[in-house]
Amino acid sequence: MAKILLELNEVDKHFGGVQAVKNLSFAIHESEIVGLIGPNGSGKSTTVNLISGALDVSSGAVNFDGHTLSGLSTSQRVPLGLARTFQTTTLFAEFTVCEQVMVACHCRYQSGPWQSVFRTKAGQKEESSEQTKAMEIIEFVGLAAVANVKASSISSAQQRLLMIATALATQPRLLLLDEPAAGMVASERKELAKLIMSIRDSGVAVLVIEHHMGLIMEVCEQIVVLNFGQRIAQGIPSEIRNHKAVIDAYLGGTH
Ligand SMILES: Nc1ncnc2c1ncn2[C@@H]1O[C@H](COP(=O)(O)OP(=O)(O)OP(=O)(O)O)[C@@H](O)[C@H]1O
Ligand SMILES: [Mg+2]
Repeated sequence: MAKILLELNEVDKHFGGVQAVKNLSFAIHESEIVGLIGPNGSGKSTTVNLISGALDVSSGAVNFDGHTLSGLSTSQRVPLGLARTFQTTTLFAEFTVCEQVMVACHCRYQSGPWQSVFRTKAGQKEESSEQTKAMEIIEFVGLAAVANVKASSISSAQQRLLMIATALATQPRLLLLDEPAAGMVASERKELAKLIMSIRDSGVAVLVIEHHMGLIMEVCEQIVVLNFGQRIAQGIPSEIRNHKAVIDAYLGGTH
């Protein structure tokens, strides 16, 4: 069995009186695709926020590759190998696809901001290697044809792929995807499934939140099911598909 990369240990998160995540424990192994599903408001995005550092736990622990993440900001977690996409698209509209990915690549390179300002030799060399790296990632996610188009002018499915590209540019070991297929048609979802599997094949673990069960069942090795902030089931796709508590949660009028 592969090594555990991420571990949530009895995690709680409350917002005032609302308990968004309750006593949640699960693990993600290296190069594993794990699905996080559950009805609306069941705590999926909150869980991703607790892992990425947008929020801190109320109690319990999140451990990543031997580090305790408590108290670390998002920007302190990125260099450890954590990257995410958001449920709603967050892009710099005026940047081209390539520029957008280059900005994300930048956080992994050595030269400080003064090197971009004064355009030192080292800075210029880095800029061209960032461009090469950015183009490799853009091709990998299937956006080569729109590399020089403004992010605001590409389709919403392409914007979702661009968010994945910018996350990959930080060279994560765990990629967190919050509803990556939102707004995609069936053929786009099929391409996305292939992309998620090739990301895994390149050695990156993936946690994917999705309402499209077809995609979840196709790509995930493990599925964790939440309802009202609690884990109600965990297993391989065939176990989850026939799990009584899961069927009840989805058909119980909360979705
Ligand atoms: N910043 C916040 N302040 C207060 N309450 C919040 C906050 N974020 C989430 N919540 C509440 O926590 C609960 C879980 O929300 P969360 O966004 O994690 O659900 P979700 O499973 O991602 O839902 P969806 O499928 O609709 O995206 C909800 O009751 C929500 O209203
Ligand atoms: Mg959500």
